Amino acid sequence: MNITFLLNGESVELTNVSPETTLLNWLRDTRGLKGTKEGCNEGDCGACTVMVTETGSSKALNACILLLPQLHGKAIRTVEGLATNGGLHPVQDALITHHGSQCGFCTPGIAVSMAVAHLNGDTEHDDALAGNLCRCTGYAPIIRAAISAQESPKITYPETDPDFFCPPISSGGAEGRGADSPPPPVSSPTSSDDLADLYLKTPDATLIAGATDVGLWVTKQFRPIAPAIFLNRCRDMQHIDVSEDSIRIGAGVTMDRVLSLMADHHPSYAEMIRRYGSTQVRNAATIGGNVANGSPIGDNPPALIALGATLHLRQGDTRRFLPIEDFYIEYGKQDRQPGEFVEAVSIPRQPDRLRVYKLSKRFDQDISAVCGAFDITVSDGTITNARIAFGGMAGTPKRAAHVEQALTGQPWTEDIIARSWDAWEQDFAPMSDMRASADYRLTSARNLLSRYFLDDMGAATSVLEVKP
Ligand SMILES: Cc1cc2nc3c(=O)[nH]c(=O)nc-3n(C[C@H](O)[C@H](O)[C@H](O)COP(=O)(O)OP(=O)(O)OC[C@H]3O[C@@H](n4cnc5c(N)ncnc54)[C@H](O)[C@@H]3O)c2cc1C
Ligand code: FES
Ligand code: FES
Repeated sequence: MNITFLLNGESVELTNVSPETTLLNWLRDTRGLKGTKEGCNEGDCGACTVMVTETGSSKALNACILLLPQLHGKAIRTVEGLATNGGLHPVQDALITHHGSQCGFCTPGIAVSMAVAHLNGDTEHDDALAGNLCRCTGYAPIIRAAISAQESPKITYPETDPDFFCPPISSGGAEGRGADSPPPPVSSPTSSDDLADLYLKTPDATLIAGATDVGLWVTKQFRPIAPAIFLNRCRDMQHIDVSEDSIRIGAGVTMDRVLSLMADHHPSYAEMIRRYGSTQVRNAATIGGNVANGSPIGDNPPALIALGATLHLRQGDTRRFLPIEDFYIEYGKQDRQPGEFVEAVSIPRQPDRLRVYKLSKRFDQDISAVCGAFDITVSDGTITNARIAFGGMAGTPKRAAHVEQALTGQPWTEDIIARSWDAWEQDFAPMSDMRASADYRLTSARNLLSRYFLDDMGAATSVLEVKP
C-alpha cells in the first residue's frame, strides 16, 4: 500500500508500507524526529503523543500503537512542529514558566496533549492529560501551566483549517488486482461493501480498526499481521443514527464519540467511558474493535448487554442480527464466521435506568477488575425487569441470569440484596489474577447491587459525589 500524509506541514509519500511499522518507530528511526519518545510502547504513558488532523479535526494519539497505513490522507504534527514563527507554543512557554518539567522525558507528549486541548478549547485538563504519565512533577505544575495557557490565542496550522485538503496520491485499496491475485499484504477499503468483499476473499486477514489492541500484538508480541485490512477509511461504518426506536452505532465509531453520545442518553455509561483508557486511547479505539475482540474485561459489552443491544454482523452480502450476549460463546471464542465482521451495534431507546460501575486499581486509565452494568425497572415498588451483566467475572462478558430471576417480581427494598445473595454464586465463579482475587470479585459484584439500590434512592455512591 502506498500512503501520503503531511508531517509537520511537509508532504510525505511512502510506497509499500508494512502494516507492522508504527508511526513512533518511523519518526525516530527514519526521520530522526526523536522528540516523540518511547516509554511503554503500549499506549499507556503518552510519551509518544502526536497531533493527528483530519478534515480540520485534531486529536491526540499515541504514535507507538499507530500503524503507518492508518495515516493515509492525514496530517501529523510532532512536538518538533508545535512551535510556529520561531516562537514557542503557549503551552510550551507555560510549562517552562510553571516548572512543569523535571526530567523531561514525558514532557514532549504532555506538550502535544496540551497543544491539542488548547486548539480544541478543551479545559478539562485532568481528562486531557490522564493518558500522559509523569513520574517527577506531581502534576500540579503541569495543570497550572495548562490553566495559564488556556487564555492565550489559539495556534492553528494550515491543516487545522477545515477547508484544507490533503490530496492522497493513491487510493490505498486493493484495486487493479485480478480476481485470482494473492491477497495484498495491506488494504484499506473505503466502504463496508468493499470491506465485505475483500474479507470474504481473505478471511484469514487481520482486521484493524483503531489498533489499540492490534498495535500491542505488533509491539509486544512481535506478531506478523499481514494480510492486513485497515477499516479506518470505511466512512459508512462511522455513522451514529438516533431514531425514535433505537441508537445505531457503526462499528468504526471511536470511543470518544460514544462518550459524547452516551452523555445524552445514558450518562452513567458515559461516566464509565471517561475512565476507558485515556483521551489518546479513546480517540483511536472503536466500539466495534472492543466488542469483536471478545475480551472478558472489555468495558462496552456489560453496558451493551444490560441495555439489550443487538449486534449487526455481515459476511459478504449476508447480514444477521444477534442479541449481543449470544456473541460471546467462551473465552476467546465468539459467534463469528470466516469473513464475517461487526458492522454496527444498536441499542433500543428506553428510559434511562442504566448504571455502569467500573472497579479498577487506578481511577484513570486502568483495565477493569470488575465492570458491572445494571438496568432494573421498578413499577409501583416492584421489580418488573432486570438486566444485569458483568465483565471480569467469567471467561466472557456475562449476564447474571440467576440474579435477574431472583430480583424480578420482588419488592424493590433493601432486603432484596440479602435475598438475592446466593444467586450470585450460581451465575459467577470468578478467577483470581493480578487485578483482583476471586473473593474480591464476587463480593464487590454483590455490593454493586447495593450501590445501585442506594443510587436509585438518591444516596451518593461515587467517590466523586461524596462531599465532606
Ligand atoms: C492503554 C490502553 C488502555 C485501554 N483501556 C481500556 C479500557 O479501559 N477498557 C476497555 O474495554 N478496553 C481498553 N483497552 C483496549 C482497547 O482500547 C479496546 O478494546 C478498543 O475498543 C479496541 O478497539 P480498536 O478499534 O482499537 O480495535 P483493534 O485493535 O483495531 O482490533 C481489536 C480486535 O477486534 C477486531 N476487529 C476490529 N474491528 C472489527 C470489526 N468491525 N469486525 C470484526 N472484528 C473487528 C480486530 O481484528 C482485533 O481482533 C485499552 C487499550 C490500551 C492500549
Ligand atoms: S510509548 Fe507509552 S504510550 Fe506510546
Ligand atoms: S518530567 Fe520526568 S517523568 Fe515527567
